[in-house]
Amino acid sequence: MAEKALLNQIDPIRIPEHVAIIMDGNGRWAKKQGFLRIFGHRQGVDTVRNVVETAAEIGVKYLTLYAFSTENWSRPKAEVNALMQLLVDSIEKETPRLMQNGIRLETIGNVAQLPAGCNKTLSETVEATKGNTRMTLILALSYSGRWDIIEAVRKIAIDAKKGLIDPETIGEDDLNAALNTARYPNPDLLIRTSGEQRISNFLLWEIAYSEIHFTKVLWPEFSTEDFYKAILDYQGRERRFGNTGDQIKQVV
Ligand code: IPE
Ligand code: IPE
Ligand code: MG
Repeated sequence: MAEKALLNQIDPIRIPEHVAIIMDGNGRWAKKQGFLRIFGHRQGVDTVRNVVETAAEIGVKYLTLYAFSTENWSRPKAEVNALMQLLVDSIEKETPRLMQNGIRLETIGNVAQLPAGCNKTLSETVEATKGNTRMTLILALSYSGRWDIIEAVRKIAIDAKKGLIDPETIGEDDLNAALNTARYPNPDLLIRTSGEQRISNFLLWEIAYSEIHFTKVLWPEFSTEDFYKAILDYQGRERRFGNTGDQIKQVV
């Protein structure tokens, strides 16, 4: 269906506040065309730009993109280096557009592990965009859900040892507050491209009640239409959070 027709079907008052995306399939897309994997990553940057702007246009407030996982460090060194270079180049190039579009950039993950140049560029853009309020773009870099949970548990244990927190009272709020994602609401919608139906160590704690949309489309080919389809799929779901369907209808 055409882009416009899909957009018209979207209910503007039920836009997911937070969308998280596992951007997968760059390598396979490149291979399909007979190119090196890095070509797919480059093409994937165009998809990122389009999805970021489309999300902001329809009123998404938080967009979290899984750009590089803890496990991705074990890929061939040449691919890791190329990805890091692509990250720096893209952030530098896209900063003016982020400003124009009122988008704030933030990161989650063990960014200290990234090359110094990457870190510098990232912190400059985070700083430059921090006053923007239309949408927050969160890049997950050197991130994994288990890493974040372990870090959070360590922080809580240290606070408990110092007597700042009573171990008997530790609850969900304490863990929420100690995670890298503390400032954000939990994702309402999680999208994964490329046909894989797994989480690959993404926001493990935060997606407890997220709606999940899997699509076979490879990330470099993920279009505005595909994004709208994911939103429509989400809007067709009944989010029950453990309640019965009747209970949910009473609230609405
Ligand atoms: C996703 O595409 C991007 C990153 C993980 C950095 P892949 O590189 O995983 O592409 P496939 O899954 O091998 O096709
Ligand atoms: C998940 O994709 C990580 C990112 C999209 C950054 P992978 O391609 O690394 O995941 P697996 O290996 O297929 O599970
Ligand atoms: Mg992959």
